[in-house]
Amino acid sequence: MKAIHTAVFPVAGLGTRFLPATKAIAKEMLTVVDKPLIQYASEEAINAGITNLVFVVGRTKNAIIDHYDKAYELETELALRHKDALLDVVADVVPDNIHCVFIRQSEAKGLGHAVLCARPAVGDEAFAVILPDDLINNTNGNGCIKQMVDVYAQYHGSVIGTQTVDVSESDKYGMVSGPKLSEKVARVDEIVEKPLPSAAPSDQAVVGRYILTPAIFEKLLTTERGAGNEIQLTDALAELRKTEEIYAYSFDGRRYDCGSKLGYLEANVELALQHDDLAEEFCSFLKKLEL
Ligand code: G1P
Repeated sequence: MKAIHTAVFPVAGLGTRFLPATKAIAKEMLTVVDKPLIQYASEEAINAGITNLVFVVGRTKNAIIDHYDKAYELETELALRHKDALLDVVADVVPDNIHCVFIRQSEAKGLGHAVLCARPAVGDEAFAVILPDDLINNTNGNGCIKQMVDVYAQYHGSVIGTQTVDVSESDKYGMVSGPKLSEKVARVDEIVEKPLPSAAPSDQAVVGRYILTPAIFEKLLTTERGAGNEIQLTDALAELRKTEEIYAYSFDGRRYDCGSKLGYLEANVELALQHDDLAEEFCSFLKKLEL
């Protein structure tokens, strides 16, 4: 079985929940402490041994393309001023062995359509999909995608990252159900996009992490518009499940929903409290707040 080489980052969404901040800036460029969300996602992929990063971008996402490009003026200036540590920070965005591909999703037809747009850059191999809105932090342990790559190597089928949510929130997520195969892995027998709580098959929600076999592309080709009038990855997975086993993996780590203001603020506070240079002072600042 081949290793996972490619991660797809669907980043064509409009980010309306963060307006006006996202009027001119891609929501994936919003910063958590000192790095844009998209970089947390690409680092998670790189740390899982992935070397091809495929960004499916929309028209307003040029800042993402620039972030993964060389910044000649900046790098020359930093070199002249002997700011070597900062030069490393800039160079580390795209380490030497990493290739970036950018594909335009010209119409906002949904997550399933975005993944299908990546097909020419993925080829006939299993690949990862990472939604940067879901920032997953696993302090002192493997990142979520690395954990899922290991599950894929063991079970040889598509793997979906899941977590337990309150069923009242089922209409925000893809929801899955199926029998447990081990402490953290379950077989997916049912998967449905954003069901009402009364129709939710369980309390297990899909988060923005997937390892997908290439068979998903054929399913996506015939997937009709579903929830929100968009072509849903979840609907294609429901079709794929009829021909291949799919697994749900309850990952180790904390997920922040950075597509929401509250989740984004929580991520900033908690990651600042883990930041080498900031933790101590930020913690004393928080303690002084009279809440
Ligand atoms: C997408 C998926 C959904 C999943 C969610 C996780 O929805 O369609 O199945 O549960 O990401 O964040 P979105 O949040 O983009 O509407």
